[in-house]
Amino acid sequence: MSELSERPENPAVGVAVPHESAALHVTGAALYTDDLIYRTKDVLHAHPVQVPHAHARVTALRVEPALRVPGVVRVLVAADVPGVNDAGVKHDEPLFPDEVMFFGHAVCWVLAETFEAARLGAAAVEVDVEPLPSLVTVQEAIAADSFQGATPQILRGDVEAGIAGAARVFSGELEFAGQEHFYLETHCALAHVDEAGQIFVQCSTQHPSETQEIVAHVLGRHSNEVTVQCLRMGGGFGGKEMQPHGFAAIAALGATLTGRPVRVRLTRTQDLTMSGKRHGFHVDWRVGFDSSGHLQALDATLTSDGGWSLDLSEPVLARALCHTDNAYWLPHVRLTGRIARTNKTSNTAFRGFGGPQGMLVIEDILGRCAPLLGIDPMELRRRNLYRAGQTTPYGQPVRHPERLHRLWEQVLDSGAVLARQEEIAEYNAGHPHSKRGLAVTPVKFGISFNFTAFNQAGALVHVYKDGSVLINHGGTEMGQGLHTKMLQVAATTLGLPLERIRLAPTRTDKVPNTSATAASSGADLNGGAVKNACEQILERLARVAATVLGVNAADVRIADGVARGVGAAAGVAWNELVRVAYFQRVQLFAAGYYRTEGLHWDSSVMRGSPFKYFAYGVAAAEVEVDGFTGAYRTRRVDIVHDVGDSLSPLIDIGQIEGGFVQGAGWLTLEDPRWDAGAGPARGRLSTQAASTYKLPSFSEMPEVFNVTLLAEAEEDGVVYGSKAVGEPPLMLAFSVREALRQASAAFGPAGVAVDLASPATPEAVYWAIEQARAAAGGHLVEADVAPPQPGAGTHAMHPESEQVGQAVSRV
Ligand code: MTE
Ligand code: MOS
Repeated sequence: MSELSERPENPAVGVAVPHESAALHVTGAALYTDDLIYRTKDVLHAHPVQVPHAHARVTALRVEPALRVPGVVRVLVAADVPGVNDAGVKHDEPLFPDEVMFFGHAVCWVLAETFEAARLGAAAVEVDVEPLPSLVTVQEAIAADSFQGATPQILRGDVEAGIAGAARVFSGELEFAGQEHFYLETHCALAHVDEAGQIFVQCSTQHPSETQEIVAHVLGRHSNEVTVQCLRMGGGFGGKEMQPHGFAAIAALGATLTGRPVRVRLTRTQDLTMSGKRHGFHVDWRVGFDSSGHLQALDATLTSDGGWSLDLSEPVLARALCHTDNAYWLPHVRLTGRIARTNKTSNTAFRGFGGPQGMLVIEDILGRCAPLLGIDPMELRRRNLYRAGQTTPYGQPVRHPERLHRLWEQVLDSGAVLARQEEIAEYNAGHPHSKRGLAVTPVKFGISFNFTAFNQAGALVHVYKDGSVLINHGGTEMGQGLHTKMLQVAATTLGLPLERIRLAPTRTDKVPNTSATAASSGADLNGGAVKNACEQILERLARVAATVLGVNAADVRIADGVARGVGAAAGVAWNELVRVAYFQRVQLFAAGYYRTEGLHWDSSVMRGSPFKYFAYGVAAAEVEVDGFTGAYRTRRVDIVHDVGDSLSPLIDIGQIEGGFVQGAGWLTLEDPRWDAGAGPARGRLSTQAASTYKLPSFSEMPEVFNVTLLAEAEEDGVVYGSKAVGEPPLMLAFSVREALRQASAAFGPAGVAVDLASPATPEAVYWAIEQARAAAGGHLVEADVAPPQPGAGTHAMHPESEQVGQAVSRV
């Protein structure tokens, strides 16, 4: 075990403590950015002027009518920007655009004494536009050859030879929807400017350093003139990785121009119509299996719906390609990616960051092909799981693949899966109008940012003269429990009880140049930095303790707040030690730093070892589907997940449950829709409120939900032997989708490939059932299979090409 992963005796990590803010969350006392306006004098409220066209040129903007509205103080327009009129890191996101790129794009912002006055002011602004042709769907963008950014490709082996040599070859198409983040707290920023022109922005952001950079470049200032603080977020889920910057810049610009604090807080509908979502994808694929169902070759083109600007679309696409293998060995691969430019909000990071989209491709392929191969889908998946010595398509060795098999066996065992499969077969035989399905799916998710430079973090730890400890680190808290884990890490390293440590909000003037709290790496990176800072202080204190105790500094251990020589009974209490150290003029604070070792990635050829390790999990889900309506419920879910040696088991179980449910929401309930018609509402988001956008709620929770952490799973080389947990469990929800496919198929004869749209809403499930039933008549399967090529053998023996029908998300 490396020093980083080794735990002392009785560590504070690994203890099941509640979230550090749990009591504040449930009593409503926890402060979020917008709560600060009640504690702030003279706040001005900002309201966007959103233009209702999918694509249009702004020909005139008249703000005078707004200035006549009582309470309106100022209208912010492009000419007000002293620096760069751009809110993105790719310079393709004008903050005040003269071209409307999506329905609801904000062209200017009204500042007023009250939110209502700002709203009325925004309504009074007159915008003349010349409508331009628009592309609303990925299909339209593909047809118009409208793409943006890089077109990466992962290549291994010889795909054509692999396909040619395969016993069974299938091809198909898949289109699936994105997802709205629907964090409880919408985007929010509150900016102040002090007497010296120093700008302070409080912002709900996962990436305070980048928010700081964008605010600085919009204002034409240096980074040292801008401080960004994030108290906590009411959920981020990736939606606040890059999207907050422009809103923070509006608040900061307003504050510098008026000298008053300015608040930007989006209403729910503004948030839904202005901020980016998970990328939906369109995928074309061809796959070859050998005669025993082992994957031989996969050739796929993944086209993501980037929306109007690049944002994080390139790294999201890279992660999608790096996760198309999921947990399966693919000898020959060609994965091609491209990003469609459409007239929609700019799609962005969302829990899993492209990983879920990539994995959906292979899980969909396996789910559709299993019946045609005549292999039980669960067996088909198990057979293809990675084994020792194999590498991913981008060339990274798959370490610990045996954990996948261990998880698989444990889920089968604890979930009594085989016995339940028999019960389900019996149930299905006796129930013509309702069917059950049970699916088991694995997850392998790479941990680290693909972009190597982001894998670094900082921390600042203060020990005050009275012995109390205050820690700062570069990560943000969005509900995931990062701060709780960091408190546990500091307490463990310093050998103090947890209550002795306090944590201060994330600020760019405490820890600079931070990466986004993202890629699930918050605890790995910031934990490494917190531990490093604490160790520096400990080293100095050990020298002090050595003189006090008359032992060698190397033999000093601090545990439970007392420093002792190894094996000695007598010791010196922490507070006393700190007091002595202060009088000896020993530095009692330290800046910590951590960088992940051993990573390399060449994005130009999409090869390398970008991930420190893989997080693994396996889920078994059982559903019951109603044959008349397609309505379904999730009867039972069993998950075993690998979080290494957990830093905080309650937090980790919460993350697994929450991630799973959010994934099930994406795959089965949440159905973002845009008006793709030719009328005046073309490009309008139709699902722009909670009334039309279905989210998972208590009623959709699995009736039985068992989550277990894999035992004996310490991960060497990571802080206290733990593994990241934030995103990977989301992808365990494929088990629900595949169970729905199997239950739908049970309405037809055996051996029918059922295409299931994504999201698999009750409506989509109904159509899948209809497809299975129609197959009972014997024509749909035939019709969907491409005719054999001349000279080829019969279908059953050696099909040249079998086409699996299309699954499209909008039916
Ligand atoms: N959990 C909660 N409660 N709220 C969130 O916004 N975001 C997820 C995940 N879990 C999120 C969450 C996402 S997208 C990521 S990348 C990780 O948390 C980020 O935090 P971590 O790196 O500390 O795990
Ligand atoms: Mo998470 S999508 O990496 O913020």
